Amino acid sequence: MTAQARGRCRICGGGVEEVLDLGRQPLSDAFRRPDDTGPEFFHRLAAGRCRACTMVQLTSEVPRERMFHQGYPYRSSGSAVMREHFARTALGYAETELAGRDAPFFVEIGCNDGALLRTMAGAGVRHLGFEPSGGVAAVARGHGVNVSTDFFEEATAAAVRESHGPADVIYAANTICHLPYMESVLRGVAALLAPDGVFAFEDPYLGDILQKTSFDQIYDEHFFLFCARSVRSMAERFGFELVGVERLPVHGGEVRYTLAKAGARRPAAAVRRLLDWEDEQGVADPEALAAFASAVADIRSDLIDLLRMLRAAGKSVAGYGATAKSATVTNYCGIGPDLVSYVCDTTPAKQDRVTPGAHIPVRSPEFFAENRPDYALLFAWNHADEILAKEREFREAGGKWITYVPEVRVL
Ligand code: SAM
Ligand code: TMP
Ligand code: ZN
Repeated sequence: MTAQARGRCRICGGGVEEVLDLGRQPLSDAFRRPDDTGPEFFHRLAAGRCRACTMVQLTSEVPRERMFHQGYPYRSSGSAVMREHFARTALGYAETELAGRDAPFFVEIGCNDGALLRTMAGAGVRHLGFEPSGGVAAVARGHGVNVSTDFFEEATAAAVRESHGPADVIYAANTICHLPYMESVLRGVAALLAPDGVFAFEDPYLGDILQKTSFDQIYDEHFFLFCARSVRSMAERFGFELVGVERLPVHGGEVRYTLAKAGARRPAAAVRRLLDWEDEQGVADPEALAAFASAVADIRSDLIDLLRMLRAAGKSVAGYGATAKSATVTNYCGIGPDLVSYVCDTTPAKQDRVTPGAHIPVRSPEFFAENRPDYALLFAWNHADEILAKEREFREAGGKWITYVPEVRVL
């Protein structure tokens, strides 16, 4: 299975014009054992924009089974802020969309370790999570969550409609942008959703990515970079309407889009406001994307210059957070263990492995506490508040943080 290059938009079939080439990249979540000398999968990572519907998307596709499988390491519950966000989101739906319905049914696409569905299970709400990565699905089941390990798509969604009846809410976080086969996904949503139900999904927002030059949001799993304009066009194409948008602070800036079946609900005023803001800002205009690509190149040279200068001065640097995003940064900038000696991460399935492509060793927070570097490069910048609070002692002992979002800076 190799990456499939395509010059056509995965939503409308229009021509896709490349806007940013991030070069040869590994699978962003493929952490290898240090003694693994077998061949490593690489693909060319580039983003483009559809001339017809404006959707920003990767120009080639990695087969889904290569990314999402038994050993997929990402754990949604690894961040206290995200645990709280998902508990609040679940309770929010329980008190609004699901309230007053007879035996309401809540479906989550990409439920991972059950960070959100634990709350639904605890509240006795009828629910089902789709989670094809078997390892994390088993963790969710251990928390009393009902999980199907099928990939959500037209056929699997229709089967659940048969066995469970219609869903009142279909929800997904950081998953819909991972699914290039969107036509099948939205046909599945159409089959499973109750006539007056909602389909809500939250993903990194193109508006924030451009404002923050957070190019590391682009990696194999993040196939689409959504904005309200492109999502509205996608929704309409498949018989839905964009009826709600909410900007969220999590993961460096996201939008939760709410879709309903066409004509079922009146769009909230916030939809028009965000569309107008996107027009004013030129989000998804070719000029904005060209300026973004040039700012990305500047960050690469600034970051490499800083790391080389620190190495020349005899300073030690470690990474913090072996994020999927950091695969893009290290492989695009050419950062290896010579510049960043190890990366600290709490995820058990990443520890004592090496990072994809760059092969930087991953170590535990305990190792970080015992082997404090002079500088820590904050790869998990989207969790900055949580991490800086947790690692206050590092700074008090003279340690310094480096960030590269929205620009390269020592904090
Ligand atoms: N929702 C969680 C969160 O926000 O933390 C997990 C996000 S994780 C980045 C994406 C998840 O989607 C992975 O656990 C992956 O296995 C799952 N996934 C990928 N394709 C899927 C599909 N077609 N249906 C359901 N889940 C899928
Ligand atoms: P994410 O940005 O995709 O959520 O990934 C965050 C990574 O950072 C994940 O591997 C867990 C790790 N992490 C820590 O090591 N310490 C922390 O305090 C937090 C919040 C995350
Ligand atoms: Zn298109």
